[in-house]
Amino acid sequence: MKVGRRRLVAGNWKMNGSLAANERLLDALKAGLKPVAGLEFAVFAPFPYLAAISSLLSGSFIGWGAQDVSEHDVGAYTGEVSGSMLREFGCRYVLVGHSERRQLFGEVDMQVAAKFAAAQRHGLIPILCVGETLEQRELGATEVVVGRQLDAVLDLTGIVALKNAVVAYEPVWAIGTGKNASPDQAQAVHAFIRERLALRSKEIADAVTLLYGGSVKASNAAELFTQPDVDGGLIGGASLIADDFLAICKSAENA
Ligand code: PGA
Repeated sequence: MKVGRRRLVAGNWKMNGSLAANERLLDALKAGLKPVAGLEFAVFAPFPYLAAISSLLSGSFIGWGAQDVSEHDVGAYTGEVSGSMLREFGCRYVLVGHSERRQLFGEVDMQVAAKFAAAQRHGLIPILCVGETLEQRELGATEVVVGRQLDAVLDLTGIVALKNAVVAYEPVWAIGTGKNASPDQAQAVHAFIRERLALRSKEIADAVTLLYGGSVKASNAAELFTQPDVDGGLIGGASLIADDFLAICKSAENA
């Protein structure tokens, strides 16, 4: 049991969906989920669908978020979406520094940190994604990489900012590969993240929500979620299939 920490199961839809498919999926989630004290559920859809999702989920206990946010607040930044725009639609969460943003779109630690700060400036809860590649893991550099990704944010915002944020550990080698981190591997890195934060504030480190992401499935969710420092999950592929996502949410209820 993770007493006192916000627990969260979040579905990252990535660049998938359509108006009709999103509505079907949300209908199934609304029918299948019930509120659980201390546990939140949220979906992360592509930008054009957020307005529709905000109305489909209005009055529901299921939250929603965006998959990215600009580090800028307003101006000549073609293609970007600011935190204030997201906030206008009632957005609660935003992913920052997902490994696909880092790897495919060249986002560097400083930019991720600036996005994290921008999200909070506009009242959004950033979900900071961190994680190592397979090569980095094999070189024994997991803690160096994850530590650097965390420190970039902490150096910019200070540890107090982590009071209203979530960290998601997503090993790059586990994302979309079907090969999840073992519960022990996930727990070890989660414990490391908490220790790293505790260097700046033990109280905040103990309270921060840490999610695991990377090939979470109905069949492995329970074992991952019961690890002492795992407070929920960030789910990609399996969040697109209602029954799978519901089963994963159910595992979190009992964790
Ligand atoms: P996956 O993706 O569950 O499909 O591995 C997780 C993520 O990228 O957030």
